[in-house]
Amino acid sequence: MEAEVRVNAAAAAYPALGPGRVLPPGAALVEYHYAAGSADPVTLLAMVKRHAGYDPDGGDWEYLILTPQGTSAHRGALPPCKRCHADAPHDHLFGGPR
Ligand code: HEC
Repeated sequence: MEAEVRVNAAAAAYPALGPGRVLPPGAALVEYHYAAGSADPVTLLAMVKRHAGYDPDGGDWEYLILTPQGTSAHRGALPPCKRCHADAPHDHLFGGPR
């Protein structure tokens, strides 16, 4: 799989986040996953920063699994997403594919 991350204006500080930098509510990041060599995404994984208190111990991030058409199959403070992203360096973000 190959991946690319697209962000909206509120998430513009990504990927230059440093210690203590947290993205504001409304920030959205979408990771497009492609099969190797294909231009058509297979799955979209997204994170949207919600209002303070949405999920305090999860950095108030909502996680979404989307079809390539943008339909949400699962959304919320999804435990598997949240658990792994809790280990990310800054504000539950890893900083994209490398
Ligand atoms: C096993 C660990 C793990 C799980 C589970 C996981 N992620 Fe990630 N995620 C990563 C890593 C590592 C990166 C950075 C590398 C990359 O982009 O592939 C990442 C990157 C992302 C990004 C780009 C923003 C960033 O952190 O840099 C989004 C959006 C994302 N994941 C969404 C999700 C969603 C939605 C789920 C649940 C369906 C999920 N992830 C589950 C490890 C995980």
